[in-house]
Amino acid sequence: MSEPLLAVDDLVVRFDTPRGTVSAVDGVSLHVARGETLGLVGESGCGKSTLGRAILRLVEPKAGAIRFDGDDLAGRSRAALRSARRGLQMVFQDPAASLDPRWTVGDLIAEPLHIHGVGTRAERKAKVRDLLRQVGLPPEAAERRPHAFSGGQRQRIGIARALALDPKVVVLDEPVSALDVSVQAQILNLLVDLQERLGVAFLFISHDLGVVEHLCDRVAVMYLGRIVESAPREALFRRPAHPYSRLLLDAAPSLDANAPRRTPAPASNELPSPYDPPSGCRFRTRCPHAVERCAVETPKLSDLGAGQHVACHRAGEI
Ligand SMILES: Nc1ncnc2c1ncn2[C@@H]1O[C@H](COP(=O)(O)OP(=O)(O)OP(=O)(O)O)[C@@H](O)[C@H]1O
Ligand SMILES: [Mg+2]
Repeated sequence: MSEPLLAVDDLVVRFDTPRGTVSAVDGVSLHVARGETLGLVGESGCGKSTLGRAILRLVEPKAGAIRFDGDDLAGRSRAALRSARRGLQMVFQDPAASLDPRWTVGDLIAEPLHIHGVGTRAERKAKVRDLLRQVGLPPEAAERRPHAFSGGQRQRIGIARALALDPKVVVLDEPVSALDVSVQAQILNLLVDLQERLGVAFLFISHDLGVVEHLCDRVAVMYLGRIVESAPREALFRRPAHPYSRLLLDAAPSLDANAPRRTPAPASNELPSPYDPPSGCRFRTRCPHAVERCAVETPKLSDLGAGQHVACHRAGEI
């Protein structure tokens, strides 16, 4: 089997705060193949953004390996990282906050080209026009500033900027969560269309399972800093193996009318403090199936076949 485009291995990110240490990412492994979309889901605070940012080294991982397109990113110095990272870009949730209001849209989109010394001034201008066209904006948009645009248009600008260096992977962190529902669909369709045309792979972070079901080839489910299940989309939505995946799916209306209804209610709805997570399986305090073993032994991801992996001691019985 050929090496995946992006492979994250046992990644750890900790934040030291006045209240204590948070293991925001606690030994996460995942991979993304060329041209595919991996969804990353989980409740607020479970570490999705931190994981995405750590992959781009926007936050420093404490441990672990990040292999991207044959390069070891985690081991690189910041300077060496810049060139290696051209192929790996990020789109943020809030396009208003990530686009400097003093710059023109053209300069914002051209900035990555500028930083990496790509092309002449005229070539960069032409590339900006092409990127604007690709994301469905008119060429005149280049002369205006971000505030002249709607939220959806600003996210198109953010996407154009992320695509400027022809990346192989784009990490999209809740790219439509800040947008009106009607606009969300347009942006999602744009992403699907861009992926078909450019062959770019996405790591798509979202808490909206409907969107993930619509867009992703595979899905990884995260709970308090750990991946508890990863599976092809079909398997995850039809046969979720982890009690936490079931909880998430139960809480969300399914797009698939044929999906079976699942009932078991969680023992508790409360997310434990990330400063003091439960021993063993971190989900055990909310899990209707928890037994003693779950408190003493951390479950490892095990292979259920057909690409489905689950970290649950009781996955075989429940
Ligand atoms: N810069 C930081 N300093 C301290 N703690 C942080 C920092 N960034 C994130 N955290 C903590 O790390 C944990 C994971 O946060 P993160 O933002 O990655 O979660 P998330 O899954 O993206 O949540 P959301 O769905 O709300 O965006 C949380 O407990 C959060 O409080
Ligand atoms: Mg987040």
